Amino acid sequence: MKKILITGGAGFIGSHVVRLFVNNYPNYEIVNLDKLTYAGNLANLSDIENKANYRFVKGDIVDAAFIQNLFETEQFDGVVHLAAESHVDRSISNPTEFVFTNVIGTVNLLNAARHIWKDNTEDKRFYHISTDEVYGSLGAEGMFTEKTSYDPHSPYSASKASSDHFVRAYNDTFGLPTVISNCSNNYGSFQFPEKLIPLFINNIRNNKPLPVYGKGENVRDWLWVVDHARAIDVIFHKGKLGETYNIGGFNEWTNIDLIKVICRKMDEKLGRKAGTSEQLITWVKDRAGHDLRYAIDATKIKNELGWEPSLQFEEGIELTIDWYIENNEWLENITSGEYEKYYEEQYQKR
Ligand code: NAD
Ligand code: TYD
Repeated sequence: MKKILITGGAGFIGSHVVRLFVNNYPNYEIVNLDKLTYAGNLANLSDIENKANYRFVKGDIVDAAFIQNLFETEQFDGVVHLAAESHVDRSISNPTEFVFTNVIGTVNLLNAARHIWKDNTEDKRFYHISTDEVYGSLGAEGMFTEKTSYDPHSPYSASKASSDHFVRAYNDTFGLPTVISNCSNNYGSFQFPEKLIPLFINNIRNNKPLPVYGKGENVRDWLWVVDHARAIDVIFHKGKLGETYNIGGFNEWTNIDLIKVICRKMDEKLGRKAGTSEQLITWVKDRAGHDLRYAIDATKIKNELGWEPSLQFEEGIELTIDWYIENNEWLENITSGEYEKYYEEQYQKR
């Protein structure tokens, strides 16, 4: 029996990771720690919330005393750390929140793990989930490898880069058994509709403008979220301690090309005349410090751990659009704030 702490499990990627661990490892005890910020939603986990090997704890990783106490009481064997403030635009309007959660919150978890494991680190593991945005921005050529120097530009990527450095420092200085992965942009079900893909699907449904930043020429490398969760499972179980693994889809799109695919598919699915959704495209001022291009070289994880994406983008985006159309109520709850009532009720029941 292993007791695993997953932080940020009520968020987009975290909910997919919790689901995968709860379903794949019935002999593990999975504890999901989440503050339930605007981005955390327990409805993302309604299909597994009653499983015997799953438990939810509401709490803030910034609260050092709470975290210390939780680790002492629970004696976790492993940590999969996803909790974070994750949206670049919000980091531009409120950078400090990103320092608290992403940097201080991560250091609080590292301290607590170090405190309970001491020198008994056999079979223990602290896995930090990070982003390719720490590497900065590429020009037209090249890809990020695990050896690319850090060069973050946004307050979000600066906070994630800082947390990655702390994780490595705790491995080097204190021998904490850590591993890190840096992943490209994820897409799929349960993503908060502030990020490009769910925002645009939602706006098309509601005939609202589609705000394209700058010239729409920025490039992102999109990976289906379930494939990211599969990679996290593989790295947590087979990744080498002290190492970093890049995760990506080998799937680059300029924003405008991707937006046109979404518009075309939405017209088909909603039975609208071809070209209707594209008329909603609105060119807006560019994001400050907007990184031009991200592209991940995911050769290391493929060669060393045997992971590669399971789904082609054409299929993944189709599934994703269908999911948001079928789960209209989820989107409406999120956008109206109704989901906060759901978790308040769920939380009272525990
Ligand atoms: P998200 O914003 O959807 O979810 C974040 C979760 O963390 C939420 O449930 C939120 O309630 C929780 N949280 C926030 N602050 C907290 C705090 N102080 N204490 C406890 N819980 C807190 O984010 P996501 O897109 O699922 O990203 C998850 C992780 O993956 C992040 O670390 C992010 O940096 C990383 N990542 C994301 C992407 C992507 O494309 N979304 C790509 C690569 C890496
Ligand atoms: P986003 O989903 O916010 O992810 P990230 O900034 O972490 O890559 O944005 C993806 C791309 O889409 C990015 O280049 C910014 C752009 N974008 C828009 O053009 N309009 C929007 O409304 C949003 C949210 C993003």
